[in-house]
Amino acid sequence: MATPLAPEADWVRVRVSGKINLALRVGAVRPSGYHPLSTVFQSVSLFDEVAVRWAEPGRFPVTVVGDQAGLVPTDGSNLAVKAAKLLADEYGPHRFGAELVIRKTIPVAGGMAGGSADAAGALLACSVLWDLDVSPDELRELGARLGADVPFQLMGGTALGTGRGDELVPVLSRGSYHWVLALSADELSTPAVFGRFDELNPDAPDELAMPNEVMNALVSGDAGALGAVLVNDLAPAAQSLRPELVRVLEFGREAGALGAIVSGAGPTCAFLAPNEAAAVDLSVRLSSEGMCRAVRRVTGPVPGARLITT
Ligand code: C5P
Repeated sequence: MATPLAPEADWVRVRVSGKINLALRVGAVRPSGYHPLSTVFQSVSLFDEVAVRWAEPGRFPVTVVGDQAGLVPTDGSNLAVKAAKLLADEYGPHRFGAELVIRKTIPVAGGMAGGSADAAGALLACSVLWDLDVSPDELRELGARLGADVPFQLMGGTALGTGRGDELVPVLSRGSYHWVLALSADELSTPAVFGRFDELNPDAPDELAMPNEVMNALVSGDAGALGAVLVNDLAPAAQSLRPELVRVLEFGREAGALGAIVSGAGPTCAFLAPNEAAAVDLSVRLSSEGMCRAVRRVTGPVPGARLITT
């Protein structure tokens, strides 16, 4: 029997990355239940792998391995399975099936769009496996039906997101940034954080300004300038649900981070370091403090969903 993720010829493998939001401005909830966003995404080098091979038509079994694998559902509610089924329904109902293996590294329900990354990976991997004639735009359109972050997780790099976060324009970004991530022992539900945002912001705006400060800092390539303008409107909501995040962010700032933010809806915290040596120092200090489940050093931007060729 094939080992999951072994480079056998019958497996198509895709690597997908986690994301952080360098700016996340949030407006008043819409009747759809979604909030308008004005956000700058950056993909960072924390990777999941999604491998697929042929299965009987209509069958989509999934195995999840790696960090926090036990927290990921393996039934029809798995977002990667939903992605594979959606693609099959659109391009060949009753003709396609796929066995999926997902290797997790991106935290589950951690504010880094790991589930959306796996869905993006499944879309790309199955489109190759089934040899479909599908364009990147078509994949992004299908991705948007699965979740607001899926289109960015297909694309990767650095991008401005508007609408629900699914209308994307690439953003010019110079250089590579060194981040330290503090992963939390607990998950945070994204809808719960948005719900708390509504309670805390009864007068949230309908129209959002562009996050120009962050985009200007990215063009300059100056990590200090970027660190000073990182912004996340969901941070107070995440902190009110997880008060310990306040101490984690403060510790990172005092330990020399140029900027500290809650990643997306949290609870992962991201710290921008001036260089690699400072990132190593910061990660050691955060680890020894014992305030989080794990600490990871990553860089960004990196690509989104990409085929792994062996
Ligand atoms: O699109 P996705 O399923 O990833 O979103 C998860 C949840 O996050 C939504 O059900 C909604 O509660 C919230 N959300 C939102 N506004 C957005 C994106 C997500 O309210 N723009």
